[in-house]
Amino acid sequence: MDERTLHNALSDFHLGGLRIFEQTGSTNDVALAWAADGAPDLALVYAEEQTSGRGRGDCRWFTSPGTALAFSLVLRPLLGKEQFIPLFSGLGALAVCEALRLRGLHPEIKWPNDVLLNRHKVCGVLAESVWMGEKLDSIVLGIGVNVKPEAVPPSDQLRFPATSLEAEMGQSVDRLALLRDVLQALLYWRGLLAKDAFLLALENLLAFRGEQVDIRVEGTSEKTGKVEGLEMDGSLRLLSPEGHVFIVHFGEVHLRPVL
Ligand code: BTN
Repeated sequence: MDERTLHNALSDFHLGGLRIFEQTGSTNDVALAWAADGAPDLALVYAEEQTSGRGRGDCRWFTSPGTALAFSLVLRPLLGKEQFIPLFSGLGALAVCEALRLRGLHPEIKWPNDVLLNRHKVCGVLAESVWMGEKLDSIVLGIGVNVKPEAVPPSDQLRFPATSLEAEMGQSVDRLALLRDVLQALLYWRGLLAKDAFLLALENLLAFRGEQVDIRVEGTSEKTGKVEGLEMDGSLRLLSPEGHVFIVHFGEVHLRPVL
């Protein structure tokens, strides 16, 4: 995607700035540094290729040239909105789901931050906070979508089965139109963050609802439970095999269906 086309196509979004890379390490790293340096709200970093893209935990995220969407958005102002931090992964996932639904697909959100198509991961979201001392300065919301089949890493490098948009749709996908639709949805839902409508939209997209999953919070032992829904703060509510409700908060969480 060439730079001028991208600039023109995004001109009506009133972005706080736009940095475009043919190749960079990680758009989140660029955006984090930019945010710390005072990047305005809605500053966007876009890359055609990432050489050290990051996922949650210590996972790598592969972005080979021209096969995916990989971008990071700086969101502010957030003074006094620290309690909403856990909802930002959901915001990114919801925005991608809306864009996919416009294409006739039926995406689901594997809580807290993956978008699935046919139970295969097509998109990952990485929300990271920038702090100035004790105060939340901004959030960097990184989104990676596998658009072409070549974007999907070999299966031995995957923690969860993955797919691409084009493989699921059986046709080629316009990455620029997709980016526009994701941004449009993101701006809309950001205005409703933490509102009932936002949480309901998120809950309606929740994968494995009513199904048993294994869930492991880093540093604790694995638990099994039936996915019930979301709490008001975006935490996941499950039912244990003994019939007790338990809540899993955001953090380093890994969830997979019981096969
Ligand atoms: C995950 O699956 O755990 C999250 C993956 C997030 C990948 C995106 S691609 C754009 C941005 N830059 C990164 O280094 N990571 C995010």
